Amino acid sequence: MKDSFQMDGQPCKWQRPRKSALRVIEKNFLLSCVLAAATTYLLVGHFWHHPSLDTTTQSGYASLLPEDLEYGLAQCAANQERPAVDHGLASIRLAKPRSGVRTILYHATLIDGDGKVTPDCTIEMQDGIITAVVASSSALDRVSESSDTIKIDLEGRIVTPGLVDIHSHIGIRPTPQLWATEDVTEYSSMATPWGRAIDAIKPNDPAFPVVASGGVTTSLVLTGAKNSMSGEGAVLKMKRAESVYDLLVNLTEAGGKPQRYLKMAMGENQKRQFQNVPGGLVSRQGESFVYRKAYDTARRVKQRQDMWCEAASTALGRASLTEEYPRSLEWQTLVDVLRGDVSLHIHGYETVDILAMFDHSDEFGFNITALHHGLHADSITDEVRKRNIAVVGFTDSWGDKKENYNVTLYFPKRIVDAGIPLALTRDAPALHGQFLIYEAQIAHHFGVSAETAFSSVMAVPARLMGMDNRIGFIRPGYDADLVVWDRHPLRVGAAPLEVFIDGSSVVRASSDLWRRSQDFVTDAPPSRPEAEIKTPVSPVGHADVVLKGIVSSFVGKGGKRGEEIRGSDMTAVIRDGNLVCIGETGCTDAAAEATLAGAPVVQVNNGVVIPGLTIVTRQHGLVEMALEPSTGDGASSGANFDNPPEAQFGLTFGGIHVQSAHHAGVTRIVTPPLTTGFFHGISTRFRAGAKSVLDDGAVSDPNVALHFTIGHEGKGPVTPSVTLQIQKLRELLTTEQPPHSVYRRAARGEIPVVVHVHNKDVIAHMIALKHETNAHIVIMGAAEAHLHADALAKADIPVIVAPFWGCEPLFWDARHCLPGPPLVDALGPQVLVEAGVTVGIASWDTMNNHIQSSIWEAGWLAGPANHSLALDLVTRNVEKALKLSETGDIVVFEGNPFDFGARVALSFEEGRVQSVYPNADATE
Ligand SMILES: *[C@@H]1O[C@H](CO)[C@@H](O)[C@H](O)[C@H]1NC(C)=O
Ligand SMILES: *[C@@H]1O[C@H](CO)[C@@H](O)[C@H](O)[C@H]1NC(C)=O
Ligand SMILES: *[C@@H]1O[C@H](CO)[C@@H](O)[C@H](O)[C@H]1NC(C)=O
Ligand SMILES: *[C@@H]1O[C@H](CO)[C@@H](O)[C@H](O)[C@H]1NC(C)=O
Repeated sequence: MKDSFQMDGQPCKWQRPRKSALRVIEKNFLLSCVLAAATTYLLVGHFWHHPSLDTTTQSGYASLLPEDLEYGLAQCAANQERPAVDHGLASIRLAKPRSGVRTILYHATLIDGDGKVTPDCTIEMQDGIITAVVASSSALDRVSESSDTIKIDLEGRIVTPGLVDIHSHIGIRPTPQLWATEDVTEYSSMATPWGRAIDAIKPNDPAFPVVASGGVTTSLVLTGAKNSMSGEGAVLKMKRAESVYDLLVNLTEAGGKPQRYLKMAMGENQKRQFQNVPGGLVSRQGESFVYRKAYDTARRVKQRQDMWCEAASTALGRASLTEEYPRSLEWQTLVDVLRGDVSLHIHGYETVDILAMFDHSDEFGFNITALHHGLHADSITDEVRKRNIAVVGFTDSWGDKKENYNVTLYFPKRIVDAGIPLALTRDAPALHGQFLIYEAQIAHHFGVSAETAFSSVMAVPARLMGMDNRIGFIRPGYDADLVVWDRHPLRVGAAPLEVFIDGSSVVRASSDLWRRSQDFVTDAPPSRPEAEIKTPVSPVGHADVVLKGIVSSFVGKGGKRGEEIRGSDMTAVIRDGNLVCIGETGCTDAAAEATLAGAPVVQVNNGVVIPGLTIVTRQHGLVEMALEPSTGDGASSGANFDNPPEAQFGLTFGGIHVQSAHHAGVTRIVTPPLTTGFFHGISTRFRAGAKSVLDDGAVSDPNVALHFTIGHEGKGPVTPSVTLQIQKLRELLTTEQPPHSVYRRAARGEIPVVVHVHNKDVIAHMIALKHETNAHIVIMGAAEAHLHADALAKADIPVIVAPFWGCEPLFWDARHCLPGPPLVDALGPQVLVEAGVTVGIASWDTMNNHIQSSIWEAGWLAGPANHSLALDLVTRNVEKALKLSETGDIVVFEGNPFDFGARVALSFEEGRVQSVYPNADATE
């Protein structure tokens, strides 16, 4: 590996070799620095006697070329100036004459970048900027209809500023990800502050229109986090363009120095990246040295520049200069950080990393703008606030490595409550950038006010980028970036109907979607309730319970799933683990009887009774931190055909991922064994609430299904190609002499065959295989399954989608996924449901933690008016797909479980109450 610090050993590399009386001094940088002032004096004295000599002298001591002097003087002048946010920009823009088409949105409910709501607004835009915002639609009276005016009646729909993602890799890590276009981190050495995102941005990244369709109009594209300092970011609008110049925000429009952004990173990534690189760092000590060494080098360069400028500040001093202004392509960005010209955006999680970085910032005198990710910053809030640093975080992305393990879902709330500015991000494409609003929604669910949730994706990132003079708000003179929403943006499933960037509509939903949106709610959901439920006697362990305050139940008498029963204040009586009565009036006797027999009475608010969820997951019960092998079960190479691994034998209970599933109402989990190849083995359904394998019903269905991964992820030693994978699966299901009897059962359809696959052609091969055998094939993942919706329905092949939004074409295999509204009318799984396919929802992420979102995803897919379908997606459709018996588990939510703002109050498994709030849905 190239040693990035060679530079320091040759501090004069940038100097132009030139004959000079001071040549000898050039060899010794320090001495030259110390002597600069003295030489100025001496040379001034010298020139005093030779007044004919000036800086352009042809002979003598001073020999700087005029252009070098000019360049240096310009740098010295620029060094006096800092980037500033010019709040006069809007009025300068508004004063200019305008000529383009005017677009006027009226009857708009404006929610501004700070969450402030103004009903019945008129918003006018022209020539790329917002030209008027009036809190009344009567303003329209003054607007004459004409060919150069477009008027859009929003009928009360909500308009917000375009969302701002302050941490994106769009354009430098295009999707689908290919080796050829992956340019996110220049990790050729540990510190590459000279990297520049702009040099690698591909404007044809297909993600641009998709991200824009989620309402994201501006992204700060940061370089990656594989090395310690990876380079400067660029601010882009999410437009379609041929040239990167058309995407760039003009950062010099207001005059003055442009805003600049440097990405640095600390923690595990760097250790992981450089551990096997000769001379690379292997520990946090090494990481700190990398930062310090780099800033030390930059400090020296800066010092020399300042001395040069000092010398150049007088005519006679200028005459003394024999060297050009000190330059360093490698370190200038860090010099500019030290000058205060570049804001620092630092990736890191652990407090040890953050505090070490604070120490370096004190040592070298730089400021930090934002801690990115920072998911443990909530335990050092005083220190973070004192330093005026913001946090750029996630709501629920954590769990695959030590540094982001065990993060509280209340992380955003804690940051906000501590008075620290919070921005939320998707780190696109790590998380699909289209759904930035989802972060705000989840933050609001977990206690962040609606105003702050909005500001975390609008005003705050705009401010942190030094751009709150033009984006993040809907104000006259600001960029005309705005989003019309189909429902309240903090509601499950909210999607834009139209997105404007610089005054142009970049996406507009179909008229059908506009029409449907009339029925959607336009008020914010509540946050998840925090008050404790009052129970005189803890019901935990009881098989008899009386529940009061029920408004809806999908569990009928007999404890099985039924049609929804509604009421304003119903009582449910559970005896011996079975729901024996539910209703507003009819259960008085049953309740009295139960109470007499000692059943505790639990009063809930807006109680909704549903069966416990069953979710198929990638590794629950097998892995705690995916990137720490010692915390997991390990993975087979995918070739154990004669001895299929059975997940039931490796299950562990009580890990935080399984707990969080349980807290979210997921009472049963189906997990296949892990593989690095094609054949997983046999999955198991287990109880999320069990303490160990010895508990009642801990492993309720030991052998659920055979699992295979077909596609690039399934390439292992015995199935190095997709061809061989499909061929091997076919052979196992058709051979007379299978290597194990389970394949014979699978061929007869007695045990399901789950195929994890996204690609449409492999899915078609699976449909063909189903026709050829009697196997009960289930497709899982299924990003491209919508292309075969009818054939899947006809062949009676269920599909378990993972993740439900399916359109995360991280890889080539999934590139035909459907991005959903507003680009197209439906998401892939919705197309499948429509075609009559049995659809379930899985949680298949390697971070392992999105399982609590499954029920929202169900509500998202089913739409706000179809709770029955939503419930099926996470309960009986999964059971049906996997031929599992219907669970007898009952979960009681407070609030509508399919939207934000509800919580699990109580869960009933194996005939008794397992947990009750606050334990049922603990906050940690
Ligand atoms: C940015 O704006 C300034 C001021 O209006 C203008 O002079 C300059 O040409 C613009 N730059 C680009 C790249 O459009
Ligand atoms: C750091 O921030 C302080 C307080 O705002 C400011 O005075 C100082 O100039 C900044 N230093 C740099 C290097 O930006
Ligand atoms: C997770 O964090 C909480 C709160 O800090 C702590 O009480 C708990 O023990 C942690 N759990 C694990 C498994 O580390
Ligand atoms: C819910 O969706 C299912 C499946 O598409 C459909 O059969 C049913 O009619 C829908 N119910 C409502 C109330 O829309």
